[in-house]
Amino acid sequence: MIEAMPSAEPTAGPTLEVTAVDAVDPELRRRLLACWTDVTNAGGAVGFVPPVTPDDVAPVLDALLERVQQGRERLVVLRVDGELAGWAVLSLSLSPLRRHWATVLRVQVHPLRQGQGLGRVLLSGVHDVARAQGLEMLHLTVRSGYGLERFYAGLGYREFGRMPGAIRVAPGDDREEVHLFVRL
Ligand SMILES: CC(C)(COP(=O)(O)OP(=O)(O)OC[C@H]1O[C@@H](n2cnc3c(N)ncnc32)[C@H](O)[C@@H]1OP(=O)(O)O)[C@@H](O)C(=O)NCCC(=O)NCCS
Repeated sequence: MIEAMPSAEPTAGPTLEVTAVDAVDPELRRRLLACWTDVTNAGGAVGFVPPVTPDDVAPVLDALLERVQQGRERLVVLRVDGELAGWAVLSLSLSPLRRHWATVLRVQVHPLRQGQGLGRVLLSGVHDVARAQGLEMLHLTVRSGYGLERFYAGLGYREFGRMPGAIRVAPGDDREEVHLFVRL
């Protein structure tokens, strides 16, 4: 199990950093795109059904990056020894009645790095960013049938409902959308 450590301290293990990024340069965009494409093609549940090409994902990523630039979403990236290893997004509400919470989207760790505790590190960093932003609660949804509820339960998320048939993975393969929340 890998644990986040202050990057300034010398350590035998890898250096892990989870940071909010406001300005995305072309190199980071390229790595986000490659990660999202690879995660989807490895079977990840992050908005697409495999197989996808970078050309499929690019317009959706660019729309996301525009919302980041507008301040409507916050991009949180996980780097291992300076290299992008995963990322997630905090989608903020425009409603004055809902400014105390946000929705977490696109949680992903690159397939080559999954199962090493990095998802936990990424999401803990997302929680730190959310707290620093003054948020009190986070919401997210998962597709049923992927076992993902167990990952989020380990980070304090609790289920509060399911929308039947919300996700059409393929014709005749509708999945429930499971709604989870955590108090920060
Ligand atoms: C889900 C994901 C972010 C988890 O990251 P990860 O680095 O593989 O997870 P970790 O190694 O930090 O696992 C932490 C714990 O969650 C559990 N876990 C991780 N992924 C799981 C899954 N898909 N199903 C059930 N449990 C899971 C691990 O077994 C571990 O449990 P433990 O602490 O009891 O050992 C990553 O697997 C991923 O990117 N998946 C594809 C994209 C995706 O589906 N994202 C979810 C969108 S809702």
